[in-house]
Amino acid sequence: MLCEEIDMKLYIIANRLPVKVAGTNGKFVFSRSEGGLATGLDSLQTSYEKHWIGWPGICTNEEKDQQEINEKLQEMNFHPVFLSEKQIENYYEGYSNSTIWPLCHYFYAYTLYKNCFWQSYQQVNRLFCEEICRLIRPGDKVWIQDYQLMLLPGMLRKIYPELSIGYFHHIPFPSYELFRILPERAEILKGLLGADFIAFHTHDYMRHFISAVERVLHLDFKLDEVQINNRMVRVEALPMGINYESYHQASENKEVHQAIERTRKLFGEHKLILSVDRLDYSKGILHRLRGFATFLEHHAEYHGKVTLAMVIVPSRDHVGSYAELKTKIDEEIGSINGRYSTMNWTPVCYFYHGFSLEELTAMYYVADIALVTPLRDGMNLVAKEYVATKCDNPGVLILSEMAGAAVELTDAIQINPNDTEQIENAICQALEMPEEEQKQRLQRMQNILSVQTVNKWAADFVNELNATCMKNDMLRKK
Ligand code: G6P
Repeated sequence: MLCEEIDMKLYIIANRLPVKVAGTNGKFVFSRSEGGLATGLDSLQTSYEKHWIGWPGICTNEEKDQQEINEKLQEMNFHPVFLSEKQIENYYEGYSNSTIWPLCHYFYAYTLYKNCFWQSYQQVNRLFCEEICRLIRPGDKVWIQDYQLMLLPGMLRKIYPELSIGYFHHIPFPSYELFRILPERAEILKGLLGADFIAFHTHDYMRHFISAVERVLHLDFKLDEVQINNRMVRVEALPMGINYESYHQASENKEVHQAIERTRKLFGEHKLILSVDRLDYSKGILHRLRGFATFLEHHAEYHGKVTLAMVIVPSRDHVGSYAELKTKIDEEIGSINGRYSTMNWTPVCYFYHGFSLEELTAMYYVADIALVTPLRDGMNLVAKEYVATKCDNPGVLILSEMAGAAVELTDAIQINPNDTEQIENAICQALEMPEEEQKQRLQRMQNILSVQTVNKWAADFVNELNATCMKNDMLRKK
């Protein structure tokens, strides 16, 4: 049960606020992001008043602009932390996305170390800490999200020994052998252990974290708990879900229905394979394209009959490795289309931009196959959204065993994304799978997703955090 005090607040701390601000000189546009986390936490039923603290997605030094943005965001219980262009370069593009991100996704060779990255990461975590300290009151709870803010729990703990602090890690936590490479491994782990409750998408990530704590900090876990001075830190695997009903009922919405008609017209009689990702080397986009090219090479009978719709949402393109990847993807798609296109068929339909939620769900609904083949992925919500949107329509999910979602979605065709031949064979298997089997597999996966929703995930997290904090209260009183 959640605590009943009505005037207490739950502060959700994330690198980005669930709202994007754009514009200049007093003319600002505020658009609500559709991210899973924001919508999930929106529907979380709790007696706590929910507040968010995060970066509003805009760099401005003008005090007047900041004030105006601040006032507007406050109305929605959003509290901005303004970051300079230098901080975005060194904390966000630098330590978060050029050091931690590649390391946690097993891309060791992409990991960059610069002292200015680490300095900035500490500085920005401190900025977040100051903003929290300015706002919180006794009894409030703090829930920190993800790898951009791993020092924050420890910083807060030093100031507030009794504050309830939770942390969720949305990306993989790598094996100790990889994590130990990080020069600041001890500082990062100590930072995380400032929380009362720490959760991951899978047991494996949790196991890796425990092993890193034991070997780097020489602390001993008793099952899922470790004692630090007079308090316990508890860890758990809590896989994040989606807003199942909104996807499952999407096709009943008028706009989605119209988009479904448009999508059907666009792809005609072709079998549609869909792939949707943020631009990221961890998503295995090049391997996927090579798998599709091999499929075309060996299966001339499908030429003119199968189209791959590839949606790539631009992301972090100021980071060198992302910009290079974009060039390689463009080349690979050009090469496939150049080789196989005919006057009335283009094998890869490439979209380098996002789609509205209505258009995206229409594509999920129409697509015969979803090809989700990350080389590493903390969870992968696209796989879950595709399954949920299908209702009782047929469709096949091909899913990488390297995605966190593979633990729950065992009725997908699971493949090792490094093996081009497995991708090719999975496409054939999916194209030939009887409709009845497609529906049965989807149904079994839908049964899981309809229970493990994002709302349940968030409620479970808050409940577990509360339970751990109650235990710690008792320990302190002993
Ligand atoms: C991943 C991370 C999130 C992040 C998201 C978008 O899913 O786990 O923390 O918010 O990517 O990344 P961006 O860098 O665009 O904020």
